[in-house]
Amino acid sequence: MEKNITWHASEVHVQQRRIQNAHHSFVIWFTGLSGSGKSTIANELAAQLFSEKISVYVLDGDNIRHGLNSDLGFSELDRTENIRRIAEVSKLFIDNGTIAITAFISPFQEDRNQARAILQNDEFIEVYIKCPLDACEERDPKGLYKKARNGEIKQFTGIDSPYEEPVNPELVIDTAKLSIGESVNSIIAYLKTRKFI
Ligand code: ADX
Repeated sequence: MEKNITWHASEVHVQQRRIQNAHHSFVIWFTGLSGSGKSTIANELAAQLFSEKISVYVLDGDNIRHGLNSDLGFSELDRTENIRRIAEVSKLFIDNGTIAITAFISPFQEDRNQARAILQNDEFIEVYIKCPLDACEERDPKGLYKKARNGEIKQFTGIDSPYEEPVNPELVIDTAKLSIGESVNSIIAYLKTRKFI
């Protein structure tokens, strides 16, 4: 289909923004079950990076679904579209020289692969926020597992909708074993090892 649209190159290039910010820009893509700790770790990590004068922004599933993605539900198609949009938004943040931290269940490997595919090799850090289903269910911070077990919520991830564990993530953070502080520290250590920050 002919769309009659033209790409306008930006006057300010991403490399100039990275030099000005004095750090690399990329997405830290959290994936994991509801209640695994994605949002908590994402926000704590962002606060710590921000205190080190790093340009960082958290894109969180529950928040984004109030606005940009408020038209999407939890069918497989809608989740795929959810992740596609977030990958594109992350790309814009990266182009702005910012580190995007995304906190979405993103349950499907193929969707995460697609997100990775639209970015450069050194721009996508997949972090599996790992926690056994029974521990997430025990925490149940929003009372949603209880509702899912009662049949009040359908297609709930881990209950009656699948979660595909990452095949080859850059990092695995086991929140059943690590504290929030330890989780944040190991992500920061990884970023420093790669000289991203
Ligand atoms: S994703 O699967 O499309 O990546 P996303 O991270 O945006 O999901 O949203 C997940 C959040 O929505 C959960 O943390 C939970 O608070 C809420 N939620 C509501 N219904 C569901 C459901 N059926 N499955 C999973 N999460 C749900």
